[in-house]
Amino acid sequence: FLEAEKQKCNSLIVCEGDGMKHKTLNFCFFRVFSVRNRLREIVGASTNWSDHQQAMSERLSLSSMLAKSQSDLPTKRMKDSYLEVHLPLGSEPQLREKYLTFHNTVRFGRILEDLDSLAVLISYSHTYNEALKRSPLSIVTALVDKIDMRQHIIYPDCDVKFTGHVTWVGKTSIEAKMHMSQFHDGSYSPVLDATFVMVARDPENKRAAFVNPLKPEGPEEEKLFQEGEANKVRRVELSTASLLKVAPTDEERKIVHGLFLNTLDTKTVSFRSRLLPPSSVWMEDAKLKGLEICHPQERNIFNRIFGGFLMRKAYELGWANAFRPSLVAVDDILFQKPVEIGSLLLLSSQVCYTQGKHIQVRVHSEVFDPLTRQHNTTNVFHFTFVSDRDVPKVVPMTYGGGEKGRSD
Ligand SMILES: *[C@@H]1O[C@H](CO)[C@@H](O)[C@H](O)[C@H]1NC(C)=O
Ligand SMILES: *[C@@H]1O[C@H](CO)[C@@H](O)[C@H](O)[C@H]1NC(C)=O
Repeated sequence: FLEAEKQKCNSLIVCEGDGMKHKTLNFCFFRVFSVRNRLREIVGASTNWSDHQQAMSERLSLSSMLAKSQSDLPTKRMKDSYLEVHLPLGSEPQLREKYLTFHNTVRFGRILEDLDSLAVLISYSHTYNEALKRSPLSIVTALVDKIDMRQHIIYPDCDVKFTGHVTWVGKTSIEAKMHMSQFHDGSYSPVLDATFVMVARDPENKRAAFVNPLKPEGPEEEKLFQEGEANKVRRVELSTASLLKVAPTDEERKIVHGLFLNTLDTKTVSFRSRLLPPSSVWMEDAKLKGLEICHPQERNIFNRIFGGFLMRKAYELGWANAFRPSLVAVDDILFQKPVEIGSLLLLSSQVCYTQGKHIQVRVHSEVFDPLTRQHNTTNVFHFTFVSDRDVPKVVPMTYGGGEKGRSD
């Protein structure tokens, strides 16, 4: 903590777990490292793998505590879920190593992990029932709607603060917005804004479960809530616009056809002899793949693989593929299927579009069973990066390749 934060600390009383409650402002703040401890407490998980399996099967008994309808649950305000989380990269240098790249920049994959844990904790704060202490809900990340970088540089040696709260709820889903800022030159300045969508399920993580209603207070909160509503509508529309379901639009067809004409050999005009235009690479040559074995260490509180870990691995692969650029934005990470512990996870990254210094990378992840040869998609990630120099164009050799550039 910074000196100023430390002083604030002295005037705090300890709230649940390792969290601290702000005496006058009535919100909790945590250190990044205690967020996951607090989450374990809320669901009654253990850090011991063999105990943990037992603890999770015991959660079944909490099913009776689930609400039968949303109106049975007390309405919450946005400030009921407001949290602050501190990552003292500046004042506690011994923490830094976990967050550093070889180039002495911050590993953004680690930040993704922290954002994911925070979004879960925010959602539990919204649904918290003091009388129960333990939550019957299994809250998991459904979607990373958007992460916008406000500043490309994250200093490796300055304290970081995350804040966030619930901004919209459906019947069984929760939208949380988070902000990350960093202490530099005497004040905190914004680094990024993130919007996550979480879903609540029963203790076994099988069926959807109701969450508390949310009542916005004042025009600012009304606006956030309405944005949340609009986001939901947009997500429904997007999910029906996948290429697997809908043919490309006219405009998209023209772009792909133009790319194709550019690669035709004007001498032979044959489909077979294709020429790579100057300062370009074939899309085929802009791939990078990786394999992860999903060990119990990377589990979340519900015995599945931690979504933050998946995001970190996908991010790092995409980042390596794009030759270690800076991040501009993360879009629409959809968690289609949970990843079971023990899975073999295949990650494939593809640079699918570049323009000037900007690079768009898509990472697809799937679990596979070597015996049955069955593959199941678990996630699709989209990252936008910026390089410090102009990057080559990527040119598809097949129409299928061209369509990958569309965010499907
Ligand atoms: C983990 O739990 C098992 C079963 O309860 C117990 O035998 C073992 O000693 C525990 N290990 C640790 C490190 O606490
Ligand atoms: C893929 O999904 C099917 C249907 O849900 C399931 O039976 C199968 O075990 C899954 N395969 C892998 C490798 O996860």
